[in-house]
Formats: sequence, structure tokens, C-alpha cells
Amino acid sequence: MDTLNDTFDSTLRSVQQAQTEKELDDIRVQALGRKGAFTLALRGLKDLPKEQRPAVGEEINRYKKSIETALSERRIELESGAGENKSGFEEIDISLPSRARFKGSLHPVTQALTRIEDIFLNVGYDVVLGPEIEDEYHNFEALNIPAEHPARDMHDTFYLTDGQVLRTHTSPVQIRTMETRKPPIHIICPGRVYRCDYDRTHTPMFHQVEGLVVDRGVSFAHLKHTVIEFIHSFFEESVEVRFRPSYFPFTEPSAEVDVKGAQGWSEVMGCGMVHPRVLSMSGVDPNEYSGFAFGFGADRLAMLKFGIRDLRLMFENDLRFLNQFH
Ligand code: FA5
Ligand code: MG
Repeated sequence: MDTLNDTFDSTLRSVQQAQTEKELDDIRVQALGRKGAFTLALRGLKDLPKEQRPAVGEEINRYKKSIETALSERRIELESGAGENKSGFEEIDISLPSRARFKGSLHPVTQALTRIEDIFLNVGYDVVLGPEIEDEYHNFEALNIPAEHPARDMHDTFYLTDGQVLRTHTSPVQIRTMETRKPPIHIICPGRVYRCDYDRTHTPMFHQVEGLVVDRGVSFAHLKHTVIEFIHSFFEESVEVRFRPSYFPFTEPSAEVDVKGAQGWSEVMGCGMVHPRVLSMSGVDPNEYSGFAFGFGADRLAMLKFGIRDLRLMFENDLRFLNQFH
């Protein structure tokens, strides 16, 4: 019985130390298998004096039960931490040198858009989004640009099938907003727009931010003040701003706005008083309300703010470029 007690102790120890199912299996065979120590011990009972057999038999069966319990408990432990234990990763070597870290940052256009949204949210505008795949009605007709209007050529449109286009500007969101909201309206609409354009200051996909204010008594003075305050707040310095008379079918009068940067004047936006026909087509009474609207290139503003020479760099995903905007 002494030997058996030692075997029992050492078996329990090996169960505790086992790291794999296979090891547990081997231990079980050695202890409880056909030729296992405890099986043989039970078989040896017949050599004992008759009166000792029941007590010793009971003792051996107790050992067997304990070993079975220990085996199944250890199996559950191994299963719950299976991956770690098998691959031996549970020990952490804190003396190893750390791996180099690459820190990402927001794209310069994203930084500009966040800043633009904050500026307008702070003075009570809502941010409204519209679809990038737009119908010709919202992209053109409702903006007073009928099918044969020469202004359609200005836009170098990507046409899709079934009268759908990739929106060429964010102005259709003005229409969608007036169709669904009653004045007073104070909104900006940021988003991607698409044109068949490609040079130093034009990319085929770029970001515009539309602004629309509709209420009683809105005038060009409100528009001019809003635009100048916005540009000054965006650039955090008194950059030079100028308004140039211009033409858009959906505003009257219309202007374009230029900002003076390192390389001279750059056009950043178009704007004007919402054309009465545009108001009434979208269900706003032009006798009661007036409105101003503007639409600017967010990439252009980012380009000027960060002093980038070629707008196309923004969309080439070259890390040497992007890493400069941490
Ligand atoms: C428009 O798109 C008008 N919808 C703007 C508007 C809105 C006028 C509301 C009146 C009322 P325009 O085509 O000029 O206008 O574009 C506006 C601005 O988008 C430009 O000033 C410029 O900053 C930017 N932009 C235009 N084309 C590109 C391009 N290919 N790549 C980058 N920026 C561009
Ligand atoms: Mg223009």
C-alpha cells in the first residue's frame, strides 16, 4: 500500500504538470489502463488474506476515482486555455525589445472637413448629407439647368445609366433639403463630388461643402459676412479674400470667392442668392423667403492651408506625403 500511495502522489503531480491531451492520455493508461499500476493492484487483491481484501479494495478504488477526477479537471483547464498552452506563449518575456510602431494620422482633407464642420456647427448650422449617385433632376434641372443649357458643359459630368449621374457638385443637397424641410434652414452639406477634370488644381473626385440659408429677409450682406467670417476662422489668420462677380444658373446675383495664398489668388468657392425659380421649384415661396448658398472645395482650402502645390498629391496615398500631416 505504501508503494501505491507514492504512485498515487506522483500520478497526481504529473496530471497537474501535463500540457497536452496526449500527456494526459499516457498518464491515464499508465495508472488505470489494462496494465496500469492501479489495475494490477486490484488484480493482486486475491493474494491478500481474505479479511483484508474489502478494505484494501475500497482504498484502491478511491485512488482510481481521484485520479479520474484530476484527469478530467486538467483536461478542462487545457481546453479553456488551449491555444496559449499548446504554442507555449503563456510566458511573456518582458526583456524583449519592442517592435517599431507606425502611428497613423487623419488625412489632410479629413482634418479640413472636421474643422469646417466644427466652425458651422458652432454657429447653429446642421450637417446634412446627400447621395453621390444622383438623378439629373436634382443635379441639374431643379437647379435651373435644363437639358440643353450650356452650363451642363461646365461640369464635365460622369454619366451613368437610367438618367443617373455621379453628382458634379453638392448643390443637389440644397434641393433635397428644401423639398423636405421648412424654413428657417441653416445647413452645410459636405461630401464627395466627381468631374472629368485632372490638373494641378483639379482632381476627378474632390470634396465640396455646400451651405444654404433660407429665411425671411436674408440678403447678400449676410452671405458676404458669413463667407468672410468662415474663411478667417478656417485659416486662423486674416487671409485676403475677394469676391468676383460670376454666373451660376441657380443663384442671382452670383459671385466667386478667391483667397490669396503663396502662389497668388486661388478660387475657393461659388456663391450667390438662391434664384427665385429654384426656391419655388422646391416648394419654398420666393415672395416670403429668400436665401443664400455657397459651395466650396474643401480640398482647395486644405491645399491653401497646408501650402500644397499640387492637389493630385492628396489622393495618391504616398506615405511620404501623408506623414507630413501628423
Ligand atoms: C459649383 O460647383 C457650384 N455648385 C458652387 C455654388 C454653390 C455656387 C452654391 C452658388 C451657390 P464650381 O464648379 O465653381 O461651382 O466649384 C466650386 C468649387 O469647387 C471651386 O471654387 C473649387 O474650389 C472646387 N473645385 C471645382 N472643381 C474642382 C476639381 N476638379 N478639383 C478640386 N476642386 C474643385
Ligand atoms: Mg468655379
